[in-house]
Amino acid sequence: MKPADLTALKRRGEKLAVLTAYDYPTARLLDESGIDILLVGDSLGMVVLGFPDTTHVTMEHMLHHTAAVARGAERALVVADLPFASYDTPEQAIANARRLVAAGAHAVKLEGGASHAARIAAIVADGIPVMAHLGMLPQSVVQEGGYRIKGKTPEAAAALLADAHAVENAGAFAVVLELVQADVAAVLSAALKIPTIGIGSGLACDGQVLVTHDLIGLFPWFTPKFARQHAQVAVSLREAAAAFIRETKQPER
Ligand code: KIV
Repeated sequence: MKPADLTALKRRGEKLAVLTAYDYPTARLLDESGIDILLVGDSLGMVVLGFPDTTHVTMEHMLHHTAAVARGAERALVVADLPFASYDTPEQAIANARRLVAAGAHAVKLEGGASHAARIAAIVADGIPVMAHLGMLPQSVVQEGGYRIKGKTPEAAAALLADAHAVENAGAFAVVLELVQADVAAVLSAALKIPTIGIGSGLACDGQVLVTHDLIGLFPWFTPKFARQHAQVAVSLREAAAAFIRETKQPER
């Protein structure tokens, strides 16, 4: 899968399946399962590193986990998040995008619309494909005071459409729509040539992305309402640990 192929996939009406991965075995299992895109999301800050939000994730964290995922990915496109405060200027954005590519990413993702178009264009001009991210922007959660649905008013919907056109014109090859009201996500998906990849944004998007821990029940302390769980790995892990503890402490003679 190459970034340049995605627009043609969208034209053919083929949907994209995207999951997060942060380590080698998960990346390899998802890759072998046929996933289109592995996203080394900065959600790793919460579901792997135990931080309260993504603003604690550093470039060093992202480089370490991107390299592990890249070692497990044979055919999927590997996209790595540029973390909080790592793309404040076009120069910094290019330098850090290059580091993620050197660690094994095929493309990078950053959060922001028209305000970030120049940074997207600069990275793309440097030869690195960029996935954009609109709607709820987790790196701004502290300023925004929570995770809320976006695009609820006509003005907010129009601003999202303008942002979507701005990131497409800047050269982004796809755009994540996070917590965008479903009817607005449908309008954006119809308006853009590049694919939209939704998370909590309805089924009209051109693809769907989930945090793998939410899909497989590996982070039982919080699961977003929109996430359909297809496994309960935390339950299996607790059962296996309990069995091991029992066997160790009360060995059968
Ligand atoms: O960090 C992440 O996992 C993401 C997805 C939620 C889209 O950005």
